[in-house]
Amino acid sequence: MATADPSPDDLTIDNLTSHVIKLSSNIENERLKFVFAKLIQYSHDFVRDTKLTTAEWEAAWQYLTAVGQDCTPDRQEMILLSDVLGISALVDAINNPTAPRATESSVLGPFHNHAHEFENGQSIASKGVIGEPMLIHGTVSDTQGKPLSGVAVDVWETNGNGFYDMQDPEKDGPDCRGIFHTDKDGKFALVGVRAVDYPIPHDGSVGVLLRLLNRSNVRPAHVHFVLQHPDCVRLTTALYSNDSVNVALDPVFGVKKSLIKQFTWSEDGEVAKKYSIDMLERADPGGKRTVGFWVLEHDFVLMRK
Ligand code: BEZ
Ligand code: FE
Repeated sequence: MATADPSPDDLTIDNLTSHVIKLSSNIENERLKFVFAKLIQYSHDFVRDTKLTTAEWEAAWQYLTAVGQDCTPDRQEMILLSDVLGISALVDAINNPTAPRATESSVLGPFHNHAHEFENGQSIASKGVIGEPMLIHGTVSDTQGKPLSGVAVDVWETNGNGFYDMQDPEKDGPDCRGIFHTDKDGKFALVGVRAVDYPIPHDGSVGVLLRLLNRSNVRPAHVHFVLQHPDCVRLTTALYSNDSVNVALDPVFGVKKSLIKQFTWSEDGEVAKKYSIDMLERADPGGKRTVGFWVLEHDFVLMRK
């Protein structure tokens, strides 16, 4: 325990911070000592810089109490708060520096969950799922361009209404998520649904904050991926649709230029047959009726350990 100064100076706006740091420093864990000294310093500087009023301080702790009370085993409002404040994206950027040519990372989000293993080419979407069919395929290689076989490619996305299976009270098992393995040429392929823009949970305290700050709650359409191989650094990332008007407004700051992709329209009946895709009829931008399916293709690059 820290020893008390026998004749302490009166604590003032100017000397309180160093006193709190001193009393919190009598520990052996150097990292903990360092992190807490910074936390105390920056939070005190924040209070001094903003001349925080008593009413504002009360509003802040009442808000943090409400965020805590919103948390349940299925709902992590604390993580969501970190996400919308950009802290999760900052931690991600600091801890996942990307080597030249390697695929960049993106936020994991709260909807990663247990998934079944599938064979390449199978569909992760249940029969009758809401959404337009999308073939998701590509390769995985290392930064030298060598294809990597046996990479576990864990994929998850919402259905065409913008809901993850975990958010759907009707669903009691995984849907629109699955784990695939790259073949000997580093290739993977699966069938899902065309990702759509969707709102992050906004019926709790984080929603209150987003409205207070006049911020969007809509994430641009995306598909999540976690790629793992014993010789490589695990990659958590996502691919975003360049069609989305929300790429620049992402409430959780996960979008990076290199992760923005075009979802293309294919009318290739042979490919549809190969992957058992139920082709969809739609009007193209010129109004002509076409039958086809969406395609998202990406070649991932992992860093070796
Ligand atoms: C998501 O993309 O699934 C997500 C990420 C951060 C917060 C909420 C949702
Ligand atoms: Fe998501």
